[in-house]
Parts: sequence; C-alpha cells; structure tokens
Amino acid sequence: MNEEDIQNLILNAFEGRTKSYCPYSGYAVGAAILTSSGEIYRGCNVENSSYGATICAERCAALKAVSEGDKEFKAIAIVGGLKDSKELTDFAYPCGICRQFISEFGGSDMTVIVARSIDDRKVYKLSELLPEAFTSDSIR
Ligand code: THU
Repeated sequence: MNEEDIQNLILNAFEGRTKSYCPYSGYAVGAAILTSSGEIYRGCNVENSSYGATICAERCAALKAVSEGDKEFKAIAIVGGLKDSKELTDFAYPCGICRQFISEFGGSDMTVIVARSIDDRKVYKLSELLPEAFTSDSIR
C-alpha cells in the first residue's frame, strides 16, 4: 500500500467512527476495510443493552463488505478512543474475535493499520497480530 492509500483508509476509519453507537462504554471505534475491488467499507461499533450482543467496528465493516459480495480484504484501518476526547490517546488494536473474523477474508498477508491520527499510526501484517491462525486448512 502506498502512503496515499494508507492515509485514505485511516480517514475512512475516522469517518466510520463518527457513527459509533456506544452509550454503554463511551468508547467509540471506527474501521475501514479496503477490498481487492478497490472499494472501501466503513464500520463502527454498535453496542447493545445486553452488552454481549455488541458488534465491534471491524466486524461491522467486514459484514458490510462480505454482504456486498466483496470477500477479498487487502487492508483494514482501525481508530478508537473515548467518545468525548478530542484526540485519541491510544492505538485501538482489534480484539481476538475480530482478528479471527477478518483473517477468513484477508488471510495472513492482510495489512492492519492502527492509528491515533493520519500520521501517527502503526502498520502490521495480520500474521503478526494473529500468528498460527486457525484457517479452513486446519479442518481439512
Ligand atoms: N470494540 C471494537 O469495536 N473493536 C475492538 O476490536 C475492540 C472493542 C468496541 C466494543 C465496545 O463497543 C467498545 O469497543 C468497548 O469494548
């Protein structure tokens, strides 16, 4: 991914975050997934009064992509922090379930970007965050 693609994906993650529904935790997360078609899908966390039914931003974006037929993920950008804070203080790393979920469609080579701002970010391969992933090969 070139610099422009990275910055654009982070911007989309911030845009996704503006839609976060997080009345229980107050922690707003945004994600943006770039697919091999060149399309970008945004997501946000969507909480629920049951707590357990909450959907993370990453899986929200992933479901939007897959449900539109875009099943080859190239990269994801994630931004998160307290809803009311002006600047993000921490990098929001994807939870274990989301790492596994996006691995299904991105494989180990997928790029994962966590960002506090456009310039303040870390770039990984999914294999670094989810080594020895459980895949369809595992059950053959
Ligand atoms: N959350 C995400 O959206 N993505 C993650 O990878 C971790 C956590 C959300 C879920 C919940 O709405 C809030 O962050 C606090 O856990």
